[in-house]
Amino acid sequence: MSMKVIEYSKGILTLIDQRFLPNEERYFECRTVEEVVYAIKEMVVRGAPLISISAAYGVCVGLHQYKTLEKLDYIFSILRNARPTAYNIFSILDRLEKKIKSMQTKEFHKVLEEVENESFNIHREDKDLCDSIAKNGQAILPNKANVITICNTGMLATGGIGTALGIIYQGFWNGKVKEVFVLETRPLLQGARLTTYELTKNNIPTTLITDNMVSFLFSKTKIDLAIVGADRIVRNGDTANKIGTFNLAVICKHFNIPFYVAAPYTTIDLNLEDGSKITIEERNPNEVKYFKNQKIAPENVKIWNPAFDITPSNLITAIITDKGIFKPSEISKISL
Ligand code: MRU
Repeated sequence: MSMKVIEYSKGILTLIDQRFLPNEERYFECRTVEEVVYAIKEMVVRGAPLISISAAYGVCVGLHQYKTLEKLDYIFSILRNARPTAYNIFSILDRLEKKIKSMQTKEFHKVLEEVENESFNIHREDKDLCDSIAKNGQAILPNKANVITICNTGMLATGGIGTALGIIYQGFWNGKVKEVFVLETRPLLQGARLTTYELTKNNIPTTLITDNMVSFLFSKTKIDLAIVGADRIVRNGDTANKIGTFNLAVICKHFNIPFYVAAPYTTIDLNLEDGSKITIEERNPNEVKYFKNQKIAPENVKIWNPAFDITPSNLITAIITDKGIFKPSEISKISL
């Protein structure tokens, strides 16, 4: 895909504004760390790995803006509060903060240079992590596979070709994936707006369905496997991902269809024992109450809008990472 997704240069972070896709390729420029936080909260940029890359560049933007190291605690703290569920942003900000603390010098320009270099490394490394996941994931694909996925886990969600979608891209290029079935992913439609946009741009046979069509699809068409991304994987293998993922896993179990999770090591949080400890972001009720600026429910109706759900590890066939393929029960033994 030739489109520019994210670019950082000299204190300015430029992001494709994902709120306007697929209709418009518009860019959002962040010249302040507060604008980077806004971009993450409002989902100008989204997807666990891409959020973390944006946050790393956000630290660079903040240092250029304030021109003093005294603002570092503030910069890290507002970035850490942008979105709560995906673990990548926390693991990447911890890494950057550690790097700064380990530096002998406290000279502003030297620290800024180091933080920028480390952020470029984080970005480049994420691309490599995607490639490793895609390579490792080929082992789970039967020939001529029909694959189902949810949300967007591709080039618009990472620094490379993607996690779950990266496996699918590579599988298609290797002649192993025949067709991709994409869940629209209500309420923000990352599947409909972003994943089908990416896949069709890359000439991959794609069928879009609404979230409530899965069981009927499975009863009519042979779907070989589901592959989804992750926002946080904890010690026992429980996995937080886009709302609707748990539904898909339950239906896969009913139809005996393997259900895989794909994620880089930066998504794995070994501090939490099980999924019940994960903070699930609840977003503005208007995301459910309105559809394309049109109100579709009574003004006073109560709305629940969790952005993620937790798929229990017993529904997950295996977890594909840059370090290999693991059973959910093996996750706590991975050395990170
Ligand atoms: O709310 P979003 O769009 O940031 O949610 C994204 C997902 O749930 C993805 O599946 C996950 O972040 C993995 S992206 C490689």
